[in-house]
Amino acid sequence: MCELYSKQDTLALRRKHIGPSCKVFFAADPIKIVRAQRQYMFDERGEQYLDCINNVAHVGHCHPEVVKAALKQMELLNTNSRFLHDSIVEYARRLAATLPEKLSVCYFTNSGSEANDLALRLARQFRGHQDVITLDHAYHGHLSSLIEISPYKFRKGKDVKKAFVHVAPTPDTYRGKYREDHADPASAYADEVKEIIEEAHNSGRKIAAFIAESMQSCGGQIIPPAGYFQKVAEYVHRAGGVFIADEVQVGFGRVGKHFWSFQMHGEDFVPDIVTMGKPMGNGHPMACVVTTKEIAEAFSSSGMEYFNTYGGNPVSSAVGLAVLNIIENEDLQGNATRVGDYLTELLNKQKAKHTLIGDIRGVGLFIGIDLVKDRQKRTPATEEAQHVIYKMKEKRVLLSADGPHRNVLKIKPPMCFTEEDAKFMVDQLDEILTVLEEAIGAQSESVISENAPCRAKMPNEAHSERLSDGTSEPRENPSQKRNGLCTDKHSLLSKRLKT
Ligand SMILES: Cc1ncc(COP(=O)(O)O)c(C=O)c1O
Repeated sequence: MCELYSKQDTLALRRKHIGPSCKVFFAADPIKIVRAQRQYMFDERGEQYLDCINNVAHVGHCHPEVVKAALKQMELLNTNSRFLHDSIVEYARRLAATLPEKLSVCYFTNSGSEANDLALRLARQFRGHQDVITLDHAYHGHLSSLIEISPYKFRKGKDVKKAFVHVAPTPDTYRGKYREDHADPASAYADEVKEIIEEAHNSGRKIAAFIAESMQSCGGQIIPPAGYFQKVAEYVHRAGGVFIADEVQVGFGRVGKHFWSFQMHGEDFVPDIVTMGKPMGNGHPMACVVTTKEIAEAFSSSGMEYFNTYGGNPVSSAVGLAVLNIIENEDLQGNATRVGDYLTELLNKQKAKHTLIGDIRGVGLFIGIDLVKDRQKRTPATEEAQHVIYKMKEKRVLLSADGPHRNVLKIKPPMCFTEEDAKFMVDQLDEILTVLEEAIGAQSESVISENAPCRAKMPNEAHSERLSDGTSEPRENPSQKRNGLCTDKHSLLSKRLKT
């Protein structure tokens, strides 16, 4: 009923008519999805998959209230924001109420990329500066202006880094430059930004903005150490720049206790511009930039109108309002906290059992499982991660691997994910890791050589997969023991944030 073509024909037509750089999940054996509901997706044969990665279907796939709101408004009117309409202002009012007071002016767009592009324009117009500081491995969107500031992309293409772009190290306390054994990684990483600003000034350049996701997603589910953003904001403001928080992936209550991920860093940290998208319309294309009155006024002082044909149209606004209502009415933030904590607890038990798991990090329903070949060296287990996601798919669980080494399993499911789903997912992962570790002999060795041949059969095709997500005590990490730190210091550092 839901199919026009057989799976094979769909694939053939896709190969013929869709650009080859538009990739599919599981390229070797793509899934054809014909319908979805809540946290489940169904293929053309009716097979059910547990969706652990779709943070766009935030309140659940095809939520009836969202569908109803869209349908009702579509039957009545859809037009652009040049006409007065109540839905756009009501949505802006509701959205602003979730943010700190000074973030009160909205610009509606259709995608996260458009939102980030506009954020850059706002920042540049504000003081007339041009340069942008971005984090290594960051991804901020597919427009040319954003590929330029996305090392995740430009480092892989033929593009070279533009002179106005400055790349600061990712504040990753597990695999980054300053780790959990550093006395103050937040200051150390922020000092890197300070140095970048000084160098830029010495070469006569001026900083317009620092942009970062409040938690880095494609970059490997990285949670910056507490205090880092405050320090960076101080240096950037002193340089006349603004702080842009990209909440396209991580906003709208995903972290549970807060509506926005940047709020985990405390009330004394407020970005100047926040961009949002994906979960905002639960699949309906809507996104937004929210900023201060001062920045908005500076932007309009240029005299140029900002017009976006579809941004903030009545249907999008109605959908957005439905999403906000559902988050509240179904206590999805509470669910993110409860299920996220439970899932993290289950995963930490897996970490104690499986040497392939190097780190579990996350907040609410945003969790990363960092797979390593060697816990001490933290050697990324890239092939193993690809193998795991293919095996999980066979068990009808959708996961993906990301990060610079594609070894971090991303978990960011619809917010209606349940404890039963969490248990099911972890049980499947346990089985796969058990078999895999037996195959590579990892379980019986405390230290696996970085170059040890992986005897487990890995699907070759899995190596190109990428899309831009026990009860025994863990073995002691000798380097951590030397530094007098416990094995879970990284998680502890993350927890120091106001979660
Ligand atoms: C952090 C982040 N910012 C911006 C974007 C761009 O959003 P969109 O694909 O809606 O243009 C993405 C998309 O993946 C993203 O992950």
